[in-house]
Amino acid sequence: MNKSAVIELDNICYTYGGGKQVFALQNISLSIGSGEFVAISGPSGSGKSTLMHILGCMLTPTSGGYCLLAEEVAGRTASQMAQIRNSTIGFVFQNFNLLPRASALKNVELPLIYAGIAGRKRKARALDVLTRVGLAARVSHHPNELSGGEKQRVAIARAIVSKPKILLADEPTGNLDRATGKAIIAMLKELAADGMTIIYVSHDLEMVAEATRSIHIVDSRVVGG
Ligand SMILES: Nc1ncnc2c1ncn2[C@@H]1O[C@H](COP(=O)(O)OP(=O)(O)OP(=O)(O)O)[C@@H](O)[C@H]1O
Ligand SMILES: [Mg+2]
Repeated sequence: MNKSAVIELDNICYTYGGGKQVFALQNISLSIGSGEFVAISGPSGSGKSTLMHILGCMLTPTSGGYCLLAEEVAGRTASQMAQIRNSTIGFVFQNFNLLPRASALKNVELPLIYAGIAGRKRKARALDVLTRVGLAARVSHHPNELSGGEKQRVAIARAIVSKPKILLADEPTGNLDRATGKAIIAMLKELAADGMTIIYVSHDLEMVAEATRSIHIVDSRVVGG
């Protein structure tokens, strides 16, 4: 195993079951080092989200090995996976996944509530991160009072507030116009420059070109990167 790798996939396969068997990932081997800024691209249905869910410990590989920060995570129980996820990984979903009835600030505080961090400290940290993503003036807005790009910034703030080593973003620019999308990628790049390992999915070549490495998936297999 590569010593500086934060993510090491060894011949991973993932098959969706439930009577409609789909071989979503086949024989994926990958090594991603600390602080890398990686784009994953590929046609719709090629397996990108499935791969992100495996990397994010939300799905367990059907076969193969997954070493996350030098620990084997394939074969762990759901609650062990949740614990690993909460302590090391931030996840940005394509559709934001924000709580509609909570303010931007409360949305960002949420992971800290789960982590048991006390009220005042929690609020200060959430405010800090919202300021970093340029939303200091929007902290009390609810998701339906924010633009698409602002919602994505809240989602990123929520994903990084626990200071994860790894940030996974599934189509973070998918619903945004080009300029807003580029601003989001620039923000991710800054986080990578600070040492966070960042992996994002995009099918937009211009967004992919911003990464320092790109991994292309076609028909459930890696064909480049
Ligand atoms: N829960 C599921 N049950 C069965 N098959 C699924 C499930 N989720 C995804 N699939 C199938 O697995 C394959 C890979 O899906 P995945 O969502 O990883 O693709 P993707 O590359 O992210 O596509 P997109 O660019 O459209 O988001 C697809 O053929 C899809 O139909
Ligand atoms: Mg997808």
